[in-house]
Amino acid sequence: MTEAPKSPWPGPAGLIPVTSGRADDANLWNRAYLDRIHVEMRIIDAIKPQLKTVILGREFASPIMMPAFSHLNKAGLKDRTPMEDYALAAKELGTLNWIGMEDEAEFDRIIACGAPTVRIIKPFADHALIISQIRHSENLGAFAVGIDVDHVPGTDGGCDIVDGIPLGPVNSADLKAFIKITSLPFIVKGVLSVSDARKAADAGAAAIVVSHHHGRLPFGIAPAQVLPQICRALKGSKTEIYADCGIDTGYDAYKLLALGAKAVSVGRGILRPLLKEGDDGVVQKVRKMNAELSELMFYTGIADTGSFDPSVLWI
Ligand SMILES: Cc1cc2nc3c(=O)[nH]c(=O)nc-3n(C[C@H](O)[C@H](O)[C@H](O)COP(=O)(O)O)c2cc1C
Repeated sequence: MTEAPKSPWPGPAGLIPVTSGRADDANLWNRAYLDRIHVEMRIIDAIKPQLKTVILGREFASPIMMPAFSHLNKAGLKDRTPMEDYALAAKELGTLNWIGMEDEAEFDRIIACGAPTVRIIKPFADHALIISQIRHSENLGAFAVGIDVDHVPGTDGGCDIVDGIPLGPVNSADLKAFIKITSLPFIVKGVLSVSDARKAADAGAAAIVVSHHHGRLPFGIAPAQVLPQICRALKGSKTEIYADCGIDTGYDAYKLLALGAKAVSVGRGILRPLLKEGDDGVVQKVRKMNAELSELMFYTGIADTGSFDPSVLWI
């Protein structure tokens, strides 16, 4: 299988299938849940907000990050792949870049774009492959590495196979071992419960991404629903908490940040501009999202990204 999501995203024909609209599509529930969150106004004494955000010890221009995409390595515009295009956009925006499953040659090209990049490695059944990709990432100066632990089951009820490579379950001991062998911060992507959040933090993860990976989990809850519980459970821990899924505007981003995420990734929200206009399209889209985020922070009296307050939300 590929990483093509099943939500009703109006992307280019052939890349993303149209949804059946079934209730088990977690993307539909996610959208509905995000749209049910409203905000009160706290405009008196409000000042123009600052979006600068420190992620794993480094300052970025905004808490809105790139997604861990993959499989977009066919020739794009200007003789570059879309993977390289959004890395260049990240550099221009001063935001953190992420990539998903890519071979070493594509990863090298992405790193050469010059944006600090997190590499998310698949939970390959062959752990030697995971370790060799961690080592390669270290050698090339990746910002961080991680595993998308939520991509193990396939729709046949067994372990998924991606591009012919079998995936396999990840247990707590595996996580501890991977975290121990690398000098890079290690990120566990695809956490959707307090139980997994605790296991990732106990294993020593530098960060987790609260996510259902654009709806891998049938009937999955929305990341926004479980974020507050996860933040409470990890209070006082060094593990940072990020989130994604369904973030298409700065208003969506605001809600997850107010619910406790330190930073968020825009996923399919950048796909159409990325494929149509390359890096320029992504830069414009994320600049608009940053403006929307700032607008909502201003209206609700949030002066900077360290001051989000869930009490402004009405759910
Ligand atoms: C084309 C495509 C490829 C993806 N590849 C990966 C991947 O290799 N690894 C990964 O962890 N997530 C992957 N994702 C999931 C994203 O990182 C992210 O979790 C998801 O898209 C968020 O949901 P959203 O698209 O609704 O914003 C991919 C998503 C898309 C659309």
